[in-house]
Order: sequence, then structure tokens, then C-alpha cells
Amino acid sequence: MVGLGAKKPPSRKGSMADVPQDLLAQISRLEELFVVPTEKLKAISDHFVNELSKGLTTEGGSIPMNATWCMGMPDGNETGTFLALDMGGTNLRVCEITLLEAKGEFDIIQSKYKMPEELKTGTADELWGYVADCLQQFIEYHHPDEKIESLPLGFTFSYPATQEYIDHGILQRWTKGFDIDGVEGKDVVPPFEAALAERGVPIKLTALVNDTTGTMIASAYTDPEMKAGCIFGTGCNAAYMENVGSIPKLAHMNLDPDLPMAINCEWGAFDNEHKILPRTPYDIIIDKESPRPDQQAFEKMIAGLYLGEIFRLVVLDLHKTDCKMFDGQDISKLNKPYSLDASFLSAIEEDPFENLSETADLFQNKLSITPNRAELELVRRLAELIGTRAARLSACGVAAIAKKKGWTKCHVGADGSVFNKYPHFKVRGAQALKEILDWPADKGKGKGDPIEVLPAEDGSGVGAALIAALTMKRVAEGQHAGIRDPEAMLKAFGKKK
Ligand code: BGC
Repeated sequence: MVGLGAKKPPSRKGSMADVPQDLLAQISRLEELFVVPTEKLKAISDHFVNELSKGLTTEGGSIPMNATWCMGMPDGNETGTFLALDMGGTNLRVCEITLLEAKGEFDIIQSKYKMPEELKTGTADELWGYVADCLQQFIEYHHPDEKIESLPLGFTFSYPATQEYIDHGILQRWTKGFDIDGVEGKDVVPPFEAALAERGVPIKLTALVNDTTGTMIASAYTDPEMKAGCIFGTGCNAAYMENVGSIPKLAHMNLDPDLPMAINCEWGAFDNEHKILPRTPYDIIIDKESPRPDQQAFEKMIAGLYLGEIFRLVVLDLHKTDCKMFDGQDISKLNKPYSLDASFLSAIEEDPFENLSETADLFQNKLSITPNRAELELVRRLAELIGTRAARLSACGVAAIAKKKGWTKCHVGADGSVFNKYPHFKVRGAQALKEILDWPADKGKGKGDPIEVLPAEDGSGVGAALIAALTMKRVAEGQHAGIRDPEAMLKAFGKKK
């Protein structure tokens, strides 16, 4: 017998012995809802391949497949000093990156500023004013008393944007809970530049970058086998390198068909028309109650912003229905939408004790609820189901890009809190990739797999700086750089053509 407080053995099958029949029935119901078997993964991936292609056509589909005007991978020889700005959900990070002569090396200084929660639903003026204030502070702090003419900036703006040029971007829609009026459908660069100009901040935006593109480029800087970049964090998305000839919606531009073009898939929008993803009633509630219903169907089943909320909705349902979970207890704290985040599920999955005592503490401290033993078993299984589904569905996207491009062997750089911190996410994803792509039995463990999803380099810092560097290089060489006004860009940095 395992004593109280003993470490849990790796297999947990036996633990269900103590679970009463009605909760066991609930667990089976949840497994039915959340387990995605191999055949379904394969069907999702196949549909995904078609949707990726559709997004590249003039007619389009639900996955935006945005051309980013990042036209080439770095070769490690890029040099220069660049600013990088990352407007994330919790923090705003400003970096100054110097790409060094030594291949693939760089120096970085950085400052983080808190992104106030109210900004996410405030006004556009407040948002751009705050961002410009942070940049101003950064320059005043790191370059006091220096006379700076102009610093090139790579701005990581991790939302779907239509780009006709790399130095502009029309926000298609807010995602990840942002809901600021008057920004959607407009170019985000002019108001951002106006806020900088108002404050006399000597910065010139050189490239507006998605975090996935930055991730791919930063990873390729040190690993030539990198072909795509993914983010599994608050949101979820991927970018990969396409060739212009495979992008029918760019045909009118008569570009060289062999020119590489990074595509920001915005795959969070996959299956917005609900044809294939196995949505549960809980996913449907999340969607309906989000600021943007009918958008980001795939993301809402995978991304960190939603994992805790899916869990909360299931538990609440189990409290209200026949099985009366937490019967007689005050569940008021559980009633608050988005009160649990993905780290709550991570902590449950990481509880090493046979009696799930850490999970019990977590419920007590966070929700003032005292679960009984059976309820603890159930919430543990539920966290596993939600976390596993997220990892397995993510693999469908990676497999789809690989299938579309005919890649059988490559590296994919990945970043984001879920990828980096959620227990077993990487290995569950690798296992699912193996099932989808029919790899031999000894594969699917991550390390050494034909398609390996690896922790990425700093995409929104180094990646954004590199993209700015690659853009400036193309401008200086007189190549098509996807920039609005190449002459003005050269002038801003005192360079001649
Ligand atoms: C955004 C993407 C971004 C992803 C990861 C999604 O919500 O639409 O642009 O890449 O989150 O941050």
C-alpha cells in the first residue's frame, strides 16, 4: 500500500479504484469528449492541409495565411544594432540587440514594462501612448545624453495583420482577449509612429513582425534545419517559409516564383466554420462568451488563455449536474470567468503525490474548496485530458505544414508558456506527430524524431531585430524589400542607395 504523502507512481490506473461509480461515469464521459484518437488527428491534419492552401488563394479561406514580406532566412552573418519591441499580453519588452560579426552571435540589453490589464480594453490612444512612453523611457535610460538620429525597430505585433509592406499592417482582428476600439481594419503603424513623433522618440519602425515569424527567423539564425516557427502560449499560431510561386494571392505582383516568403498562418482561425474539430459543449461556451465569437476556433481549444477556462467550465458543470461535485461547498470563487489560468492545470498535472495533496492545497488556497479523494482524482484526470488534447491538436497543425511542404525531416522552433512550461506538452505533441505521420515505433519521443519541435531562440527580440536587419540589407542592395518607401528608409538611417 502507498502511504499518505508518498510519491505517485508513473502509472495511475490503479488510483481510480477509489472513485465512486457516478464519478467514474463522469470520467468516461469526459474521456469521450476530450480524447482525440489517431484517426481523428489524421483527418484533422488532412483538412488542415487543404485549408492552408486555401488561405494562399485569392478567394482565401478561414486561415488568413498572411504574407509577411520577410523574404529569406538569416545566414548568421547579419550585423548592426536594432531595437525590438514585443507587445505581449502581460508584458511589454523592449530590447536593444547588436548582431555581432561572429556568426550567429549577438548582445542584448532589455527592459520589461508591465502591460496594464485595462489597456487591453481601453482606447487606441491609450495603447499607443503607453507603448511610446515605454520606448522613450528605454532610450532615456540606456542612452542618456546621447544624440540619436534614428534607431531601426522591429516591432513584434502578435495579432493577425494584413501586410502589403513589411513596415505597415492592417489589424484583421484582435485575439487573445484584446478588445480595443478603433484599431481593427486599420493600419497600426501610423498611430504608433504618431505617438513616437509626439514624444520626439528617435525610432523608425523598419519591420512589423509576428511572433511566429520572429521565432522561425531567430531559430534559423543558429540552426539551418529550422523551417517553421510556432507559438504555443497565450495564443497559438505558426509561420513557415513558402515560395512566392505557391502563393496565388501574390501572383499579380509578378515576383520571382522562387523568392522565399514567410507566411504567418494565423492558424488559430483553423476550422472557424466548425467542420472538423471535436468541440465540446465547453468549447462552445468559451467561444460564445469571448469578445470575438466565431473566431480562433483552433486557438480556443489549445492556447494557454483558454485551458484554465475550459477546466473551470467542466468543474462548474460537474458541480451543478447530478454528480454534485464539491457538494455543499461555497463555490463562489469558481464562478468567476477566467479565474483559473493554465498554470493551475500545470500544477495539478505536476502534483507528484499519490494522495494528490498539492492539488488539494491548490483548491483550498485558490478557490477555498476542499475536494474529497474521488474529486481530486477526477480533476487530475480532467487536467490531463485538457492538456493532452491541446498538445495533440497542436501537432495537427505542425503535421499539416510539413505535409503541405513535403517535408519529412526538419526542425520546428517553438516558444510560448504552454510549450515551455506545461508538463508533458512536448512529448504528447511528439507522440501525436508520430501517429499522424506514421513514424516507426521507436520515434515519437521528441529527441531525434524526423520532425523535431525544439525550444526556439528569442523570436520577439533577436528574431524581430534580424528581420529588421534582413529588410535593411535588401533595401540597401536595391532588392525588393517589401517596404513602403525604400528611399525614405535609407534616408532615415543616413544611408545612400
Ligand atoms: C495571434 C497570432 C499570434 C499568436 C501567438 C494569436 O492569437 O492571432 O498573431 O502569433 O496568438 O501569440
